[in-house]
This record gives sequence, structure tokens and C-alpha cells, in this order.
Amino acid sequence: MNESGRAASRTAVLVCQGRAAADGRAATGRFADPVAGLLLRVAERTPVDEVRASTPPKGWQARTAYESVRACTEVVVPRTVAIDEALRARATGQLVILGAGLDTRAWRLPELAQTDVWEVDHPASQQDKRARLAEAARVVRGPGEGNRPAAELPNIARSVRFAPVDFAVDDLGAALDAAGHDPSAPTTWLWEGVVPYLTRDEVRATLAALAARTVPGSALVVNYQAPSVKASAGRLLTRVLGSSVTSGEPWRSLWRPQQMAALLAEYSLRVVSDEPLLALAHTLGSPARGRTSLQSGRVAVAESH
Ligand SMILES: C[S@@+](CC[C@H](N)C(=O)[O-])C[C@H]1O[C@@H](n2cnc3c(N)ncnc32)[C@H](O)[C@@H]1O
Repeated sequence: MNESGRAASRTAVLVCQGRAAADGRAATGRFADPVAGLLLRVAERTPVDEVRASTPPKGWQARTAYESVRACTEVVVPRTVAIDEALRARATGQLVILGAGLDTRAWRLPELAQTDVWEVDHPASQQDKRARLAEAARVVRGPGEGNRPAAELPNIARSVRFAPVDFAVDDLGAALDAAGHDPSAPTTWLWEGVVPYLTRDEVRATLAALAARTVPGSALVVNYQAPSVKASAGRLLTRVLGSSVTSGEPWRSLWRPQQMAALLAEYSLRVVSDEPLLALAHTLGSPARGRTSLQSGRVAVAESH
């Protein structure tokens, strides 16, 4: 819990567990995240190891954690592939990751070597990530060097800067100014796994703030959820039962593809692709047993003109 009274995002940990569990096991050659496991704490790695070994544990609580991570792998594999490929095709020199959570791209994508990365996230989640990066650096350095001051895991992007922002209350533009982002140069914006957790007004406010810093040659890669009766019922059920890590972070806005395209057009962003994750999972041959957020999840790419 940080001073704002909000705890670090648990869904950010879950998607990181999903990537760690899928690394080397799903869609190999297109998907890889060897850094995700380094950001997890010991207890968080247990269900990851169990999913990797396909050994479901006994006991309701352990089994729920296992099933959450297993189901999450189905979502994060196509989502990561779609986004990594979109980013590789759009190396603008500036990448701003909105609601970064435990995103590992600045630590794993060699294509970002000439790119400055800004990670924007809720202060509680960002504080938690930075502590994890320091812990990961100690693990990578080894116990013999443990007395050196806690540095963060070395990035492979040209630079990584952190901007703490609560999209519900803070001024995104001011935070990016303070962190040295250049609004006059093209920027690639990434918004993955965040839109559903924001209200429609918060989505619009965030888009207005980023559009004010978006020049031609820029692009936005956005992952969002389309409405689905099954997905909404599933989320409602887990909230009522309080049985899932997602229960504390309800979905607040869902967008049909046409609505998302119309919204982005208001901010001079033209959608050039918008792919359903389920179709991509089928193309990749990655597991798709039908988790609802896989069925309604999409990744759109919009360009500034
Ligand atoms: C499911 S996680 C996704 C993290 C990361 N983008 C990924 O896909 O691995 C949701 C993220 O949205 C962030 N988030 C949710 N509401 C937010 C808000 N009001 N302000 C800032 N960040 C927020 C959380 O802190 C968390 O990091």
C-alpha cells in the first residue's frame, strides 16, 4: 500500500506470471519473455512452476492460483506477440508505456536499443515494480555482490524513465514533461491491459493528454476489451465470490471496435489494424481453451496523421 491508500496492482503480477509460465513453452519463435520470472517473488513463482510442469496442486486456494496463471498464459501469448511485432515495426525513438505494470520490454527487446522508454503507472504499482527490479538485479548479480547498493536490473532500451501517474486524478502531460519526454518528436504509445480498468471519462482524458503530445509519425498500440456477455458475467461472478486476483480490479469500460476507432479518430489517430486475440492465438497455435478475456480482447494500432 502506498501513501495514496491503493495497493500495487495484482493483475499486473498475474499477467507477469502468465508470461513467465508461457516463456519457452508456447508459440516459441514468436513469443518469449525470459525477464518476467525475474520480477516475481518466491511465492508468486510457485503456480508458474506448476503450470510449466503441468502439475496442478491439491487444495482449493493453490488450485485457483494455478488455474488463474494457466488461463492467463492463453491471453498474454497472443497479446504480447501482437504488441511486440507492432512495436518492432514502429521504432520512433520514444516509447511511452501507459499503465506499464511489470512490462519487461525495456529489458528484453533488442529493437529498443535506440529508444528512450517512459514507464507510466499508478504510483503504488510503480513503487512495487522498482523494488522488484532491484531484487532482480541482486539475483542476477549473485550473492557475492549483495552488499553493493541496490541498483535496478540493467535495461537494454537506450533509457528507462519512470513517471508515477494516477490516470484518474493526475496530469499525464505534466508528469511526462517532468520526466523529459519530448512532445515535438514522434512517440509510440503503448496502452496494454489498462483500458478496461478505466472509466470512459478516464480513457478520454488520457487520450486527450497523449494526443496533445502526439505529432505525425507517432502511433498508439492499444489493447482493449470488447463487450461480451460471457466475459462480463464471469468477471461479475469472480467479484461476488471474491475468488480471483481480478476481483479487486473491476472492468470499467468496454469498447466495440467501431467505437474505439471513432474515439481514436476524434484525437486524429487512424486505426490501421485491429485484431482479435482469439484469432491470433489460433494462428500461433497457442492454447485457447476459451478464457473469456481472450475471446473479447483485441489489439489495435492507430497512426497519427
Ligand atoms: C493488468 S495490469 C497491466 C500491466 C501491463 N500493461 C501489462 O500488460 O503487463 C493493469 C495496469 O494498469 C494500471 N492502472 C490501473 N488503473 C490505473 C490508474 N487509474 N492510473 C494508473 N495506472 C492504472 C495498474 O497499476 C497496472 O499496472
